[in-house]
Amino acid sequence: MRLRCPSFFISFCFLGFLLFQAAVAGPTRSGNVSPIATRGRALAAKAPAAPDAPVNLTSLMARKGCATFANLLSSTADAAQTFAGSVDGGLTAFCPLDQAMKPFLPTFKNLTPDAKLSLLLYHAVPVYYSVATLRTGNGVVNTLATDGTARNYNLTVQNEGQQVTLKTRFTVATITATLIDKDPLAVYAIDEVLRPAEIFKPTEAPAPAPAPEAPKKKKKTPRTAKSKKALPPAGPQEQPADQTAADQSAAARNGLSVVVNMAVTAAALLMAA
Ligand SMILES: *[C@@H]1O[C@H](CO)[C@@H](O)[C@H](O)[C@H]1NC(C)=O
Ligand SMILES: *[C@@H]1O[C@H](CO)[C@@H](O)[C@H](O)[C@H]1NC(C)=O
Repeated sequence: MRLRCPSFFISFCFLGFLLFQAAVAGPTRSGNVSPIATRGRALAAKAPAAPDAPVNLTSLMARKGCATFANLLSSTADAAQTFAGSVDGGLTAFCPLDQAMKPFLPTFKNLTPDAKLSLLLYHAVPVYYSVATLRTGNGVVNTLATDGTARNYNLTVQNEGQQVTLKTRFTVATITATLIDKDPLAVYAIDEVLRPAEIFKPTEAPAPAPAPEAPKKKKKTPRTAKSKKALPPAGPQEQPADQTAADQSAAARNGLSVVVNMAVTAAALLMAA
């Protein structure tokens, strides 16, 4: 083979030639690699490396004490599919244990189809929250039932020591077990059915008296799909305004420290030179 090289590229060509030779000669030189062994290795490499099969959410829940909830998910149009379809983007689901779900069934049966679906979707958050994150973060989170309208369907996550509770206006549920906690999916068992304010009337629990000064309207940001995404991936959010301010000042501080670090590095380099 004839290689034509401009003189100033000769060293590159030479390097290329060496690499070429090494590639050709390599397997031969190592000698002890028989063709059979090579073929065996190629086959081994082709065999699927035990891929993570997608978790079957309903059967996982059913096996771990949430069979009633799992059955409702499977038998309610769009519910199980919505849960399963949300896993890839990150999902934290809370399944009420059978002893909590069973007494709730008569109430559930009386809901409209739309409310049934919303109630089930209310039991999952479209963000992956590990146990550790839930134990360190307090705040309001949106759920799969949250849509772009005034239907907030949000939950308040609160922790006390190792215990994590989920609060709605009517319910305080405690996480009793972890069924799975593996990014992007977490499923926890809870000891109460989560009852959203959007479905249940405040007759079940005394609601705070409505504030008399109704005209005092806060400018509300519309709850859109975007606001769902705006939830911090790292954890539930507490006091969004303060958090933003804190983030901004932290960013400013970080910016400053980058400049200082660059200056220090430059000075060190100059001194070393
Ligand atoms: C999950 O498992 C149940 C039974 O164990 C089955 O009926 C259902 O089709 C499965 N779902 C998926 C999405 O594979
Ligand atoms: C949560 O939902 C309630 C209505 O159920 C609403 O009043 C409240 O503003 C929502 N909170 C957040 C942070 O979106």
